[in-house]
Amino acid sequence: MKFDNKTVLITGANRGIGKALVEEALKKNIKKIYACSRKLENLPNFKDSRVVPIQLDISDLAQIQAVATKTQDVQILINNAGVVSPGGLFDCDLKRDMDINYFSTIDMMREFVPFLEKNSDPRIVNIVSIAAYVNFPFIAGYSASKAALYSATQAARIELSTKGIPVHAVNPGAIDTDMNKGSTMDMTSPEDVAASILNEIEKEVEDIIPDKIGRGMYEIWERSAKELEAMSKKMYLG
Ligand SMILES: NC(=O)c1ccc[n+]([C@@H]2O[C@H](COP(=O)([O-])OP(=O)(O)OC[C@H]3O[C@@H](n4cnc5c(N)ncnc54)[C@H](OP(=O)(O)O)[C@@H]3O)[C@@H](O)[C@H]2O)c1
Repeated sequence: MKFDNKTVLITGANRGIGKALVEEALKKNIKKIYACSRKLENLPNFKDSRVVPIQLDISDLAQIQAVATKTQDVQILINNAGVVSPGGLFDCDLKRDMDINYFSTIDMMREFVPFLEKNSDPRIVNIVSIAAYVNFPFIAGYSASKAALYSATQAARIELSTKGIPVHAVNPGAIDTDMNKGSTMDMTSPEDVAASILNEIEKEVEDIIPDKIGRGMYEIWERSAKELEAMSKKMYLG
């Protein structure tokens, strides 16, 4: 797969990984990018006529349906928008985590599939998280929502294979964005992670771990899921 001459839609394109994905995609010979943001005034000026700004709050189903209808030429849907609520399972904003990261992302897939399947070389990319493999109790609701999204991504991958739509999961560890503001971890930049994501999509990798912290945790999980759980417990309890 090549991004050459493709039309892409990216949610949450105003900052962080979403913004970097727009910038990295522009370096490829891409045809058009629908750059979506909850608030249009927050979208940076990408200074490229291939970028089409779109207002989209993914928690609003009517808005998703309206956007899907007016961007029917999309070939690659990148579901990047996400939120994190700090806290443990009983004190975080679990409903918000599940609403945006899980239910709204599934709404995006459902509403775009009828258009995607009519276009050549269609695909869906869900930005999930390494938290799909282990729960981090300081962001317990987020981790649960990403585990659920990873499961939904696997379901979509199997169901949509009959329609010729590959579905990728991107499971980063820790990236240097607003989501990790204040963290002292040695994190990959959003620019490097975006370049890695696009390159892995071109290689048709289904489950993409685009950063060093993510890859380290994934290797532990592959060896022993219990070992990764123990590491998460240690991170939480010290
Ligand atoms: N940073 C990490 O370490 C990390 C690791 C694993 C996975 N991820 C995932 O990567 C994705 C991007 O995260 P990030 O690190 O770039 O975080 P970020 O800098 O906080 O950006 C989040 C983006 O999502 C948008 N968004 C939130 N709620 C939305 C809604 N209801 N409708 C539309 N857009 C919405 C935000 O828009 P506003 O500006 O309007 O709020 C913003 O553009 C998320 O799915 C996140 O879970 C991040």
